[in-house]
Amino acid sequence: MKKNFLFSLLLGLVLFFAACKKDAKFDYYYYSAEDYALLSQYLNLPEIPHDFSLKSPSAFGNIQTTPPDPDLATLGRVLFYDKNLSKDGTISCGSCHKQEYAFGDNAAVSKGVFDRSGDRNSIALMSVTSFASQYGTDLNGPTGKRFFWDNRAETAPAQSRGSMTNPKEMDMSMAEIVAAVEAQPYYAPLFKKAFDDTNVSEDRVTQAIAEFVNSIGSLNSRFDLAAKANQDKGLFDVVNLPFSDFSVQENKGKSLYMLHCGSCHGFDQVNLPTATGPNGFPIVLDHTSNGLDADPVDKGVGAFTGRSEDQGTFKVPSLRNIAKSAPYMHDGRFNTLEEVVEHYNSGIQPHVNLNPLLRDLDGSPKRLNLSNDDKQALVAFLKTLTDDKVLADVRFSNPFKQ
Ligand code: HEC
Ligand code: HEC
Repeated sequence: MKKNFLFSLLLGLVLFFAACKKDAKFDYYYYSAEDYALLSQYLNLPEIPHDFSLKSPSAFGNIQTTPPDPDLATLGRVLFYDKNLSKDGTISCGSCHKQEYAFGDNAAVSKGVFDRSGDRNSIALMSVTSFASQYGTDLNGPTGKRFFWDNRAETAPAQSRGSMTNPKEMDMSMAEIVAAVEAQPYYAPLFKKAFDDTNVSEDRVTQAIAEFVNSIGSLNSRFDLAAKANQDKGLFDVVNLPFSDFSVQENKGKSLYMLHCGSCHGFDQVNLPTATGPNGFPIVLDHTSNGLDADPVDKGVGAFTGRSEDQGTFKVPSLRNIAKSAPYMHDGRFNTLEEVVEHYNSGIQPHVNLNPLLRDLDGSPKRLNLSNDDKQALVAFLKTLTDDKVLADVRFSNPFKQ
């Protein structure tokens, strides 16, 4: 009796493993043959979705709270590059957020549908270590950065909705977006994988795009690698000591950066630890005036909040891959990093909300009086923030054939 029981247990186990093995073999065809053939008519997608998680953690701690869902991020990638989601069929998110320019645009202001010009410079999405770890209250509670130069969007889905419905960008209603997605044959297999059924809705579209955008991150610049090599010494040393793998000029630029720029743009190029928030997270210095104009036409955050202390202030951007995302500032007024450095050196304009860090003790705009060597060193340091690997990463590239 007992022997019989053991025997059937054994047989059961053998059958169980055989079933698993069959499943495993079945899994090899991730999409059904018909679905993959359909997808392949339009898209260059791998047979098994890419892993969108950021592989090597940066020297600066937590980068992705949860790894992105590969099916959802794959769907988001296709939506991100799909021109069918615009009024005239010519514009996708990727038209103004180009991978080779760190997901920014090389035009001062981008063109939207029907050649309409926008008002501001596209923001380089690859200017951060990890989108997910820095943006959006959905992930970060009240400490998450908000979206756009004027911080008007709170979450990635809200941001996407803003871009898709903006008359100067894609100019669609969300109902039109849903209809446009339903009209493309390649979405059914992708929705099936991401959501288990093929129903298209506004929430699903924005959720998928958010998953893709949130998977963007950059942490293999020379600065990261050097910081990682010095990691055990702690942030203080990373900020203050020269990196052995930097040139003398780059190290000089690093010291100048930490002295004149780091308080706003971050010492670690990850976050802006200027104060500690209620739950122990650093509060982000998210917007201020860097003195571009005495009387700016674009009121930035102030136009959104209506508060006098916000007038003429803009988001403080992260500077990763900055050498790739010219032109610079919210209106794309500077074409080179040299011009940017000259602005901070000699061009700061008085403005009621000019940040105190850019003022002398008497309140007037600060003049750094940098030598030519200093200016070149600063630019050399900014170039160490380029991550060539991510700029060519196939996971973030345009999947459309044609
Ligand atoms: C016509 C050009 C254009 C298109 C199309 C476009 N964007 Fe943008 N994007 C911009 C510009 C310009 C800004 C900055 C606008 C502002 O701050 O007012 C921006 C800002 C953003 C930001 C904010 C980044 C930050 O750091 O605050 C994100 C995220 C973004 N876009 C993602 C997308 C997505 C996703 C799509 C597609 C659904 C998209 N964009 C479509 C031009 C465009
Ligand atoms: C007081 C805070 C502050 C300091 C200090 C500061 N910046 Fe900025 N920086 C800003 C703000 C705010 C913006 C966005 C301004 C805008 O576009 O209106 C900006 C924008 C930039 C940009 C353009 C980014 C882009 O994506 O277009 C670069 C490059 C830059 N700063 C470099 C520097 C350098 C180099 C220094 C040191 C010499 C420095 N900043 C010092 C606040 C600061």
